[in-house]
Amino acid sequence: MTNNQSDALVFFGATGDLAYKKIFPALQAMIKRGRLNVPVVGVAKAGWNLDQFRARAQDSLEKHGGVDRAAFEKLRGLLHYVDGDYKDPTTFQAVRKELGNARRPAHYLAIPPALFETVVQQIATAGCAGEPGEGRARMIVEKPFGHDLASARELNRILHSVFPESCIFRIDHYLGKRPVNNVVVFRFSNAFMEPFWNRNYIENVQITMAEDFGVEGRGVFYEQNGAIRDVIQNHLFQIMCCLAMEPPVRNDSETIRDEKAKVLKAIPELEAKNLVRGQFRGYRQEKGVAPDSKVETFAALRLEIDSWRWKGVPFYIRAGKNLPVTCTEVFARFRKPPTVINGAALSHNYMRFRISPEMTIAVGATVMGADETMKGESVEIVASHLSSPHEMEAYERVLGDAMAGDATHFARQDYVEEAWRIVDPVLKPGMPVSQYEKGTWGPGDDEHKVQPPGGWHNPAASDHDSNAAAHAG
Ligand code: BG6
Repeated sequence: MTNNQSDALVFFGATGDLAYKKIFPALQAMIKRGRLNVPVVGVAKAGWNLDQFRARAQDSLEKHGGVDRAAFEKLRGLLHYVDGDYKDPTTFQAVRKELGNARRPAHYLAIPPALFETVVQQIATAGCAGEPGEGRARMIVEKPFGHDLASARELNRILHSVFPESCIFRIDHYLGKRPVNNVVVFRFSNAFMEPFWNRNYIENVQITMAEDFGVEGRGVFYEQNGAIRDVIQNHLFQIMCCLAMEPPVRNDSETIRDEKAKVLKAIPELEAKNLVRGQFRGYRQEKGVAPDSKVETFAALRLEIDSWRWKGVPFYIRAGKNLPVTCTEVFARFRKPPTVINGAALSHNYMRFRISPEMTIAVGATVMGADETMKGESVEIVASHLSSPHEMEAYERVLGDAMAGDATHFARQDYVEEAWRIVDPVLKPGMPVSQYEKGTWGPGDDEHKVQPPGGWHNPAASDHDSNAAAHAG
């Protein structure tokens, strides 16, 4: 481990759902890969002791990915636990004690943003913030980072009161996904991509994140957020930036993040006429949801990127709960070829980046028809089976990177504020919302209002069916 490595991980919100589903599996995986060998201090107010905390870790692993005996034994030994109220200074004195010789911990805030100010101040007062300058501790912050531009700025103010930007790691776990980062690698590592990846050849770009399940007991969270705040302003904007950014001139985190922030700077604020909001029928009966809720569980929107490369190419983004499949996919449709052969109309070519559940890259092309006439036939040239069982899960990657001080895969302050600027105008109350049936592609009216030329590409559940589902014509 280098000097740049955090010498402990303090995890606020350690008894919560995120820890149970994602963090313990990530910690075990980091140990297996030799990326974690420092104390892990869980903090929460649950009335637990260390044994209960360890039991929770084991239970989490049994349910999510499996227990690796050797790695789990090591994790067990690294775990510490502090039970207490975040408002109480003795909680943080106890954290300081558990940290032992650690001087530059990474503090992971998986807690409601309303508690940030208290926790940040208590960390500093208890001597857990490291030394100013190079020796500062790190802050890893879970999403959602604010609920609009003003609240995000306020959170930034709170964090910056103790920690410089270089010590703040705002998590967007989509940046920990290999298929998302692969979009950048694929674009800039293949010479054939650059000539056509621009306004001259691409007609429109679509990003769909479909989930075939509902809010799964997160009614209260959803009521405060909705699809735009939950996944569009963060996860899907990140994918859009990977698709639209310019090649970074250097490989360091700030140069790469500069290019992503520039994409957002080129996007005008979203107008209501370019947005469809939907709510699945039955949402209002979910626990924690208001009987007259207007919160969206589906949104489809159209954005413009006013840059040299993309001016005039609409980017369509769509996300929803209770849609027909669970899949995230990018679909870029090319302009039509200018000629016809033998009188047959040609199809639009397209490129498809499948982000999940598996990583695929495909190109829609036209070949000579099997009937031996010159009439073209659409085929897909597919690179599939690109996922590997040994690759890192998103949380393993982002936690490891934050503890190593690599900020590349985290949202920077200016980026987050630009993202909120774009969606802020449509987050106000009173925006229309249409009901849709579960298992459909959202409210029918997006067919008219926010519809890409040639229609939406609806991703298939399994990639084997994708060719049939593609709307390339
Ligand atoms: C989370 C959202 O950030 O991302 C959830 O809060 C969503 O609503 C989840 O289901 C999707 O993540 P993934 O990695 O399963 O695609």
